[in-house]
Amino acid sequence: MAAPPLPGQDAQEVVARVEQKLIEGYRPAGRPGNGPGAIAAAAQQAIDDGFVQSIQAFVSRLAIAKSRHGLEPDWTLYRAPRYQQPIARLRMVPAPAPDPRVIEPSGPIRRHLFIPDEHNDPRHPHRLQVQTWIARYGSDRRHDVVIKAGDSATFDSVSRHDKDDTLKGRLKPPIKDDLSNHLASLQAFERGRARDWKPIKKKAQGNHERRLYDFENANPASAQTHTLAYEEHLIQFGWSERPFGEVFYVDGIGYTHAPMNGMGKAMGGKTATHRAGAMLTAPLVYGHTHKFQIFNDAKIGLTDRITVIEGGCCLPYGEIEHYALHNPTGWSHGVVDLTVQGGQITDVAFVSLLTLRRLYSDDGADVAA
Ligand SMILES: [Fe+2]
Repeated sequence: MAAPPLPGQDAQEVVARVEQKLIEGYRPAGRPGNGPGAIAAAAQQAIDDGFVQSIQAFVSRLAIAKSRHGLEPDWTLYRAPRYQQPIARLRMVPAPAPDPRVIEPSGPIRRHLFIPDEHNDPRHPHRLQVQTWIARYGSDRRHDVVIKAGDSATFDSVSRHDKDDTLKGRLKPPIKDDLSNHLASLQAFERGRARDWKPIKKKAQGNHERRLYDFENANPASAQTHTLAYEEHLIQFGWSERPFGEVFYVDGIGYTHAPMNGMGKAMGGKTATHRAGAMLTAPLVYGHTHKFQIFNDAKIGLTDRITVIEGGCCLPYGEIEHYALHNPTGWSHGVVDLTVQGGQITDVAFVSLLTLRRLYSDDGADVAA
């Protein structure tokens, strides 16, 4: 009997329906296995959709599609019905720009000028001029706050490193000279300060200023004789000093002479910023090491990082103290210019004393070129 006619469109559809079931994991014809094959599944679907009335009618149409139109399902479309990983597809997804109100620090923008260890000394009077250069720089940039790291004066007069009856001990200045030189350093800063620049002035006490207090402790009869004069000098020029070892906060940024470890010892050495960063919960800026170093310690939690800065020192450019004469030092000579917002240090600039001298000295360095 000749096969009944079948429109080409219907022939294509009957083949496509079988192919769809092959893709879904139904077995091709002739392959043994459990459950219905692709043809039986497609026939059932066709009945449900109203495409044919019976399984037999579907099978007949499939046979006619092959004999009359040469159409046959692509049996290679079959995939075993098992879980398969989804196939990654490259796809562009529009992403909204982050809300700056969430990303950016909040609050006012504040400018901090950090002055690390200056080590003024009556035997080195030329160091005083550094104070004037820094004050002129601040007068130009109009910082809101100036913070000294401490060790502003060496106070070698009361150093316990060299006994007074030794040859080196005879090179110590008298206490009076140390105090006078410290006063002169505050006056030198005022000399460079513009009259209308009135920053908040903060100071951490360094281990060198601490010597004065230790001396009075060891010589009770001298109690407050020297420290009172020292404190009066600071107050006279508006500097408020915090005790040695204390971390005080300005606009959410911690300042101190040197961070202390659990043993009460000042942290130093190459890894000081890393060790301090692991312990800190707020940014910290300090002096003491005379090296300039920035370390951003990544954090898991409410903040993404904690910034730790070692400031360097403000001895005149290239000068080192006698105790470090033959050591590798890596000292950096300059000030640290900070921009602070929302308890974060957003900008950091190290300005060397070479630059400050060129720009602000009276010694002709600014016009020598
Ligand atoms: Fe120092």
